[in-house]
Amino acid sequence: MSTWSSTYQGLRPLRPEDFGRAIALWDSVPGVVLRAEDRDLVAFSRFLQHNPRLSWGMWDGPELLGAVLAGHDGRRGYIYHLAVTSPRTRLGLGSLLVTRVKQEMRLRGIYRFHAHVLKDNAQARAFWTKVGWIARDDLDLLSWAPPGSN
Ligand SMILES: CC(C)(COP(=O)(O)OP(=O)(O)OC[C@H]1O[C@@H](n2cnc3c(N)ncnc32)[C@H](O)[C@@H]1OP(=O)(O)O)[C@@H](O)C(=O)NCCC(=O)NCCS
Repeated sequence: MSTWSSTYQGLRPLRPEDFGRAIALWDSVPGVVLRAEDRDLVAFSRFLQHNPRLSWGMWDGPELLGAVLAGHDGRRGYIYHLAVTSPRTRLGLGSLLVTRVKQEMRLRGIYRFHAHVLKDNAQARAFWTKVGWIARDDLDLLSWAPPGSN
């Protein structure tokens, strides 16, 4: 049983005012790559407004223990950033955040999800496999971005 059942009230959707703490958390862990747009409060707020109740944080008072940034395009759900502060890993918090996102997605009719995982992030791959997600070897992710952007 999850260690987090007794502190479940600490789980709530991310808000624009959580921007600084969320960026600090994602910055503090290996395996999460933040782009310039991630560090833009306006873009963060727009994303949350566009995807209400799909990005979540687990709080212990003012401390953000874990956070997930997620959204959908009307067809598929996407998890962009997921992190748990290192002293609190392996306690079920990452699983809880993903479960919460999936619950909210299903309420919107979204039943299939993708997560962006760096190829060399073996720990994340182990996590995603454990929670039932399957690495695709039949697809490559192709991206386009304006020249000069990071
Ligand atoms: C990946 C991450 C979010 C997992 O969070 P977490 O709270 O530790 O995950 P959980 O406790 O819910 O783990 C569930 C299961 O996943 C597996 N797992 C999680 N982390 C693992 C690791 N480092 N190595 C191997 N298996 C792991 C385990 O089977 C675990 O169950 P167990 O602890 O009972 O053995 C966290 O390690 C993290 O923030 N990593 C750095 C950032 C990152 O890589 N994010 C993912 C980007 S897509």
